[in-house]
Amino acid sequence: MSEPLVRVAIIGLGRMGSTIDDELPAGSPAYSVAAACAAGPRLSVTAGADIDPAKRQAFATRWGVSALYDDYRSMIRQERPDLVAICTKGPLHAEMAVAVAEENVPMIFCEKAIACSMREADAVLEAVGSRRIPFNTGVLRRFNRAYHQARDLIAAGEIGEVKTAVHYAASNLLHGHIHSLDTLSFLLGDPQVESVWGELLPRDLTIENNRLDKDPNAIYQVRFANGVEAATVPGGAWEFEALGTGGSVRVFNNGGEVALRKAPAERRGSWENVPLPPVPATSATQFCLEDLVDAYETGRPSLGNIEVTHHLTEACIAVAESHRQGRRITLPLENRDLYIYHV
Ligand SMILES: NC(=O)c1ccc[n+]([C@@H]2O[C@H](COP(=O)([O-])OP(=O)(O)OC[C@H]3O[C@@H](n4cnc5c(N)ncnc54)[C@H](O)[C@@H]3O)[C@@H](O)[C@H]2O)c1
Repeated sequence: MSEPLVRVAIIGLGRMGSTIDDELPAGSPAYSVAAACAAGPRLSVTAGADIDPAKRQAFATRWGVSALYDDYRSMIRQERPDLVAICTKGPLHAEMAVAVAEENVPMIFCEKAIACSMREADAVLEAVGSRRIPFNTGVLRRFNRAYHQARDLIAAGEIGEVKTAVHYAASNLLHGHIHSLDTLSFLLGDPQVESVWGELLPRDLTIENNRLDKDPNAIYQVRFANGVEAATVPGGAWEFEALGTGGSVRVFNNGGEVALRKAPAERRGSWENVPLPPVPATSATQFCLEDLVDAYETGRPSLGNIEVTHHLTEACIAVAESHRQGRRITLPLENRDLYIYHV
């Protein structure tokens, strides 16, 4: 007997909800939520909501969905979907995540970052966590097989005891570094973040009235409770490396290739490349949504559950707080109202 279809409703029928695949080379794995649902047998998009009538019309034509709404709450009450995907811009994420949870939707995908302040993130944690709703966000490297290969090598002790991890690429804070912090944490097995040092760029940027109306570029250094230190290097393509006592794992070219280097027993000081099996390119969005279904069915936490996501949002906002105070910040962050606008 085939498994029942999971009925998905999407809020925000723009790029991530519907059309971003048009921006990728032909044959790329499904990226938008609608394309990821269409890529497998388990998930079916049955409804969509957008305040823009043109977006609703384009969505109906593209995906053959007729249950379309301008008000997402009406959509949820009428359609009672199994899974809601929130694909609007940043300032709406927290308010929508809380409202969707309060409608007791069984599974939630929410685009990143979940909030503009810790006050907002706390409300999402309360609404989603208290109902134990499987929850994932759009930090898609967490759902990418290449990063899983790297994480598994690290967890298996292939590079010895991990001391340091590095992210490469210049990036803004809540749009970009929410990804880099999430991936560093994921690669290391999601240890607790103990403290954060950060600077916003340009360095003379001042934060007036506890608020930034533009998502700033940033650099950071993070200390995890297990003693591992991680930092971002603001240059190059998106890459990650974990360095241990016996070698390193590096994820090149935004997940395109994983490299393992290890120290042979007789030459501890120099590392050699170790061949790895290639990782087929699969849809991270599909993996992310199917992870929610598996978490719902088995009762295990989803990979990007609200507790992990809330904690990493706190680490990200602490980068700006560190800049504001000019010192290292130990979590939890006292300033819950520092607000950083991001899209
Ligand atoms: N995870 C990723 O790799 C990835 C990639 C692209 C975008 N994103 C994220 O996805 C989010 C959306 O970005 P986008 O580029 O798809 O934006 P977009 O502007 O293309 O789409 C957003 C849609 O939300 C609609 N909307 C606005 N207010 C609404 C409301 N109250 N109710 C219903 N719909 C409403 C807009 O009309 C628009 O169609 C952002 O947070 C962005 O950071 C993530």
